[in-house]
Amino acid sequence: MSSADPGISSVLAETRVFSPSAEFVANARLNAEKLAALHAAAASDHIGFWGDLAKQELAWQTPFRTVLDDSAAPNYRWFADGRTNASVNCLDRHLGARGEKIAIRFEGDAGTTRTLTYKQLHAEVCKLANGLKSLGVAKGDRVIVYLPHTPEAVIALLACARIGATHSVVFGGFSAASLKDRIEDAGAKWVITADGNMRGGNLIDLKKTVDEALAAGGKSIEKVIVLRHGGNAVSMAAGRDLWWHELLSAQSERCEPEWVEAEHPLFLLYTSGSTGKPKGIQHSTGGYLLWAHLTAQWIFDLKEDDVFWCTADVGWVTGHSYVCYGPLSNGATVMMYEGVPTYPDAGRFWKICQQHGVTIFYTAPTAIRALMKLGDDWPKQYDLSKLRLLGSVGEPINPEAWMWYHRTIGQGKLPIVDTWWQTETGAAMIAPIPGAMPTKPGSCTRPLPGIFADIVDESGTPVQGEEAGGYLVITKPWPGMLRTIWGDNARYQKAYYGQFDNRYYVAGDGAHRDKDGYYWIMGRVDDVLNVSGHRLGTMEIESALVSHPRVAEAAVVGKPHEIKGEAICAFVICKGQRPEGADADALIKELREHVAKEIGAIAKPDDIRLADGLPKTRSGKIMRRLLRSIARGEEITQDVSTLENPAIVKQLISKT
Ligand code: WTA
Repeated sequence: MSSADPGISSVLAETRVFSPSAEFVANARLNAEKLAALHAAAASDHIGFWGDLAKQELAWQTPFRTVLDDSAAPNYRWFADGRTNASVNCLDRHLGARGEKIAIRFEGDAGTTRTLTYKQLHAEVCKLANGLKSLGVAKGDRVIVYLPHTPEAVIALLACARIGATHSVVFGGFSAASLKDRIEDAGAKWVITADGNMRGGNLIDLKKTVDEALAAGGKSIEKVIVLRHGGNAVSMAAGRDLWWHELLSAQSERCEPEWVEAEHPLFLLYTSGSTGKPKGIQHSTGGYLLWAHLTAQWIFDLKEDDVFWCTADVGWVTGHSYVCYGPLSNGATVMMYEGVPTYPDAGRFWKICQQHGVTIFYTAPTAIRALMKLGDDWPKQYDLSKLRLLGSVGEPINPEAWMWYHRTIGQGKLPIVDTWWQTETGAAMIAPIPGAMPTKPGSCTRPLPGIFADIVDESGTPVQGEEAGGYLVITKPWPGMLRTIWGDNARYQKAYYGQFDNRYYVAGDGAHRDKDGYYWIMGRVDDVLNVSGHRLGTMEIESALVSHPRVAEAAVVGKPHEIKGEAICAFVICKGQRPEGADADALIKELREHVAKEIGAIAKPDDIRLADGLPKTRSGKIMRRLLRSIARGEEITQDVSTLENPAIVKQLISKT
């Protein structure tokens, strides 16, 4: 955590408090009393608490006897001698009472709609599972899913789960180079993709990207299954590529599930850390599923007739936990929309809410800010009266955006659940239970039952007092936690448990806590940026820049951005003379495209500054804090006299 700010203190003074309506409380699954009972149970018997919930809430083929095995901590094992299957929990157990219930309501980019009942979803999952088996996919094999946000993405996840294969979804916005890296790291032999898809009226040529990734490497891949969706022309490599519909045409709608041990890896999902290489976060089957299931029920107060819309793409963990596993294991109806919030206009989200009768809406602050900026007239055109609960995830929500969400979308009365969590935590960790407690704009409130959090200083000592900030840590293991980093357990131990001698799980976020025990997240304390709710490591972007033949060195920092939360600012040192004028402009443009090619469009720097050098300490460490101040146009108050090259600061500032 090179750039951690010791002694972080909070400057946000937010005192507004909002209580749920009497009507909401009266109908809520959990009220204050029930929540208190859950907290008390977890506090008095942590193991018993989790054991009871796992028995009650999930279907097991072989019941577990041991709840938690901590003999190899921090590699914890949960329910390890039990056997289950995630697809059975999400599908088969609903077929009796909910067979004809709609599991997925889908709307495509162009407005076409489609629904799948639980029975239909089950049949499609079984067909794909059988198709995968016919290609030789077996328990423990990794399958890369590179699909648009359509029902087939959920079908692919559950089909892998059904046969015990481990899925690794790569977000459709990632480049060929990123896809190749993930294929190679996971050692996958299969890719499930589509010809392409439309997003915001633009074609995303997924198959072409897969072809490029496989031309550049990814030699482990044996077969590519291609969903026909965008209708764009693709080239099919003989012997390697096959159509989804052809593979499925002869398959049975029944497929016996593979019962796997609870610790069996359900999925890998790559995410950014503070060093260059993305980490393959490995989640288990039993523990992960329990936590996605419970949090969906508790935080979103899921009821039988809800239409639950989490707007996240299945390529992110939020899509895994709250489009697929959490709501489906509860037998809920899930809304899926393929496109972007502002296409063809800024009313799209609200139009979907009206048309599909969405009751619970869960999105990201970056979308809320973007829509807020476009004005109240858009939501006002639509009937949002079915909505009863709103949610937020991905980054701290600023109180202004929270208030707009509350007033304009929530009609001044709907509870907002601001859920703090991470790819690593599997599901939400600190979040309100909407019928059981008041909320405050900008706070994710309190840890959920069974989750023990704290805020500690540099030495690992819990901080005292309201304004005192520090490192957010989780002090006890929980079932939904990541199990390891794929292929690099030492990195897992160091990155998450190393900082305080294995005492805590270290989240990498700064936080403070108010007098009511409410948590306020202050953002990352490591070299990870949060751009529109997407995690990007500064090192990853720097490596991409340096891979350009004209770049010698690069340093990337974040700076505040009105809509994206954080924008990417890169300081770049070229080989040879620093280019100027038209040459500089052309190079900057080229570098932005280069990063898009290396990582994906989401990582394109907003601001690239060509510099003569980087400010470094005498030990050669880049002074990122100084660069951050320069990027933000702040006055430089730091002492620069200890720099190896103090004169450089002048040049960097003069370029701003
Ligand atoms: C940030 C997304 C404040 C945080 C689920 C975390 C948040 C990182 C919130 C994880 C929130 C997520 N309030 N910050 N409600 N939710 N974050 O892995 O910095 O994509 O560490 O998981 O997003 O991002 P990830």
